Amino acid sequence: MKWSKDSWKNFEAKQMPSYSDQGNLEKVLENLSSLPPLIFAGETRSLKSQIHQVQKGESFYLQGGDCAESFSELNPNTIRDTFKLLLQMSVVLTFATNKPVVKLGRIGGQFAKPRSSDFEEKNGEKLPSYRGDIINAFEFKKDSREPNPSRMLHAYNHSASTLNLLRAFAQGGFASLNQLNKWNLDFANNFESTKKYKDLSQKIEQSIKFMNACGINEQNTRELRETDFYTSHEALLLPYEQAFTRIDSTTGDWYNVNSHFLWVGDRTRDPNGAHIHYLSGIKNPLGLKVGPSTSIDDLKKNIDILNPDNEGGRLTLIVRMGADKIKSTFPSILKEIDSLGRNVTWVCDPMHGNTSTSNSGYKTRATVNIFNEIQSFFEIHKAQGSIPGGVHLELTGLNVTECVGGPDDIKDENLGDRYHTFCDPRLNVNQSLELSFLLADLLSNDNII
Ligand code: PEP
Ligand code: CO
Repeated sequence: MKWSKDSWKNFEAKQMPSYSDQGNLEKVLENLSSLPPLIFAGETRSLKSQIHQVQKGESFYLQGGDCAESFSELNPNTIRDTFKLLLQMSVVLTFATNKPVVKLGRIGGQFAKPRSSDFEEKNGEKLPSYRGDIINAFEFKKDSREPNPSRMLHAYNHSASTLNLLRAFAQGGFASLNQLNKWNLDFANNFESTKKYKDLSQKIEQSIKFMNACGINEQNTRELRETDFYTSHEALLLPYEQAFTRIDSTTGDWYNVNSHFLWVGDRTRDPNGAHIHYLSGIKNPLGLKVGPSTSIDDLKKNIDILNPDNEGGRLTLIVRMGADKIKSTFPSILKEIDSLGRNVTWVCDPMHGNTSTSNSGYKTRATVNIFNEIQSFFEIHKAQGSIPGGVHLELTGLNVTECVGGPDDIKDENLGDRYHTFCDPRLNVNQSLELSFLLADLLSNDNII
C-alpha cells in the first residue's frame, strides 16, 4: 500500500481512544495542522548521524525523562532540574568513556500512554483508564476520563513552551561546561552521588583551565559553550502525529515536525498495524521497543519496514526484557539480528520489564533490578561482539520516592512520602546519578574517581 500521512487509517490502530465528538476532533486536527512545527527536519538529520556514531561505538546514548509528562507538573523548575540531571549524567558518562553523549529527553510531547487495561476499577466503580494528559485526565471521575480532543491543543502548547526553554538552556550559556558545578540540585547537596560528582567536576574544571591556556575556550569552541539536546516521545496518538507530518522543503521528504525522535511501544509494534505503517513513511530517526514477547520474525519484519534502505542511525532497538528475562531471551535475538549485518543501534530500557506492585499498593521498580538488567545487556553484547549503545530511562530531577533502593535505600514503606508520577515510577536524582556512576564503572576499566 502506498504511504500517505493518513494511510495508517487502513490498518488496525491499537491503544487509540474513541472520541465521541467527531466534529470537534476534526476541528482540532485542522487547527493543529496549521500550527508551526516544533522542530526542523535538519535537526533530526543531525540526530540521525549522531545515533549512527552510537551504533559504531563512537558515542553513548542517553534518553531519559518522565514516563508521562503532565500538564499540571510542567513548570520551569521541573524542566530545568530534569535537564540539569541529564547534563550531570552525561558529564559522568563522557568522562568515563571519552565519548560524546547523545542526549534525548522523554520530554516536550511525552503525553500519550498505552494501557494494559481499557478500564480501571476503584471502590466498585469502573471508568475508562487514564491514557495520558493528551487524551483524558488523571482524576478518577467519569467526565475527566472522557477522551477530549481539545487536550491535543494543550499538549502542543505545553510542548512548545517546554522546548523553547530547553533550547534556551542548551544554547544560552546554561549548558556551558564552565557551569558544570552549578548543575547540582540544591536539595541534593549532601548526597554521596553529588559529592562524587563534585570531585569529578573539579577534575574537569582543571582540564578546562588547561585548554583555556592553550587557546581553546567558550568563545571559539561551540562544544564548550552549548550542547545538543533532542526531544522524543512515543508515537501513539496517530491523529495528533498526522497533524504534524509535513513535507520538508529542503529534501521533499515527509517528517514528523513535533519531535526529533519517535518510538513505537511494546504494545503497538505489530508489523501489520497502523503505528508501524505510520512510522515507515517519515524520515525522523525512530525507536522500536523490543519486549520479552517479541518474535524474531516480527522483529525482522519491522526492521525491513522501518529501515528498508538500511540507513545508519535510522532505527534504534530499545530492549526492555526485565532483569531475569533478558538473560534467557536476548542472546538469541541479538545473535540472529546481528548476523543480518543490518544498521541498528541497540539500547537498554531497564525500566519497563522491571515494574512490580509494592506491598503498600504502589507501582514501583527496584534499582537493583534496573542495574542488573543494564549489566546483563552489556555482558550479552560483549559475548556477541556487538555494541551496546546506551540507555533509555524514566527519571526526574525531582526528589521523588517512586523506585525502591538506591543510595537512600528507599523502602516500600517510604514510597508514599513523595510518590508523584502520573504513570510509571521514575528514578530520582540520587538514584539516577548513582546509576550513571555505576554505568561509568561498567564502561571504563578503571574507576573514574
Ligand atoms: C514507555 O516507554 O513509556 C512504555 C510504555 O514502554 P513499553 O512500550 O516498552 O511498555
Ligand atoms: Co513508562
